[in-house]
Amino acid sequence: MDPVSESEVERGLVEKAKRVLPGGTFGNFPSEVVIREGRGGRVWDEGGREYVDFLLGSGPMLVGHAHPEVTAAVHERIARGTTFFANNRWGIELAEAIIEAVPCAEQVRFVSSGTEADLYAMRAARAFTRRDKILKFEGGYHGMSDYSLMSLAPKRSGNFPAPVPDSAGIPKSVRDDMIIAPFNDAEVVEGLVKEHRDELAGVIVEPFQRIIPPAPGFLEKLRKITAENGVPLIFDEVVTGFRLAYGGAQEYYGVVPDLCTLGKVIGGGFPLAAIAGREEIMAHFDKNKVGDENFLVQIGTLSGNPVAAAAGLATMAILKRPGAYERIHATGRELMGALGDLLKRAGIAAQVTGEPPLFDVVFTDQPIRDYRSTLSGDTELMRRFNALLRERGILKGESKYYISLAHTDQDIKDTIGIWKDVIAELKQ
Ligand SMILES: Cc1ncc(COP(=O)(O)O)c(C=O)c1O
Repeated sequence: MDPVSESEVERGLVEKAKRVLPGGTFGNFPSEVVIREGRGGRVWDEGGREYVDFLLGSGPMLVGHAHPEVTAAVHERIARGTTFFANNRWGIELAEAIIEAVPCAEQVRFVSSGTEADLYAMRAARAFTRRDKILKFEGGYHGMSDYSLMSLAPKRSGNFPAPVPDSAGIPKSVRDDMIIAPFNDAEVVEGLVKEHRDELAGVIVEPFQRIIPPAPGFLEKLRKITAENGVPLIFDEVVTGFRLAYGGAQEYYGVVPDLCTLGKVIGGGFPLAAIAGREEIMAHFDKNKVGDENFLVQIGTLSGNPVAAAAGLATMAILKRPGAYERIHATGRELMGALGDLLKRAGIAAQVTGEPPLFDVVFTDQPIRDYRSTLSGDTELMRRFNALLRERGILKGESKYYISLAHTDQDIKDTIGIWKDVIAELKQ
């Protein structure tokens, strides 16, 4: 296709999307970007523009787009039927691989999205403790359920521990069951857990919250406080699972929760997520173990889907090979270092925050510790920076660079070159 007709096709699709989709989008990403294909660490849009891809489908494509081994596994599976509702070998083997990899995982229940996994993890904690309230952290992302949308990204800060709903359409009553704490503040958490221990069903946390690493000792203290007060600790590892390390954040930071949720990487680019954890809590998914009254009802048409499981298994086999995480971390370290240096040399106040597989910059001179400190960032500068990067050929989310095993030395070089040009332009 010649470039003129490519841009016509793209314009047509953008217009059509505006007619048929609210806001012209699937709800995830600006409507002017329509991606046509991806290979390795790059994607191409319908206008034929090529990007170094740090969006990675919002994280699942850790081994790169259209990895030949994942594609082959999926092709083989698809030709023999795509969903059965009943148990299938691939789902069973994926559960086994998760249990081998993830420290807290003694049993696994599959669902189709991270949102569902978090919703059911909170329900499992409630069923286990027979209590109602969940403590979550301000700025913590646990999907789109009514509970998770409390104090995810409040425009106006509430007073801890009162929750602030982030969305229209959430019943007022949900507020009564959520307690909000600041990330990285173990003292506040300790006070809240002690005060509410008789009604607190669980504490849910992203062990690495968005792009904010845990402060030294924070997760250890969280583990101690919850254990001492008989409150299950849930790690949301939808992002960090199989990304920070093969065993996720719990391996990387060395703190083991009671339950965790997984998504993104374990579906290899297909819809699949999971709740995993201690057998005693997972028993609530089994009526024969806990009886009618304590049984947690959970059914999903596509749960344990064999195509997704085959893609997940193939992805995990690639990640398990020696050197995979060293490579991901080395790529991320090089990029984080280069971005920090370029901004420093340009005299732009900025914090490059995160871990090598996942990071971004916040334009502020304040250290980033929790959700409120991210609000000190210059959002207009960030918007301009991201827009210029996209124009020059870097695709990324609003506030994240996801690193892929497939990113090459050339991808790194091109990215640093584009950063250099764009930072110079920001200074003009
Ligand atoms: C930490 C975390 N938990 C849960 C979710 C929700 O997952 P999904 O989009 O599959 O519902 C996300 C999605 O980005 C996430 O980042």
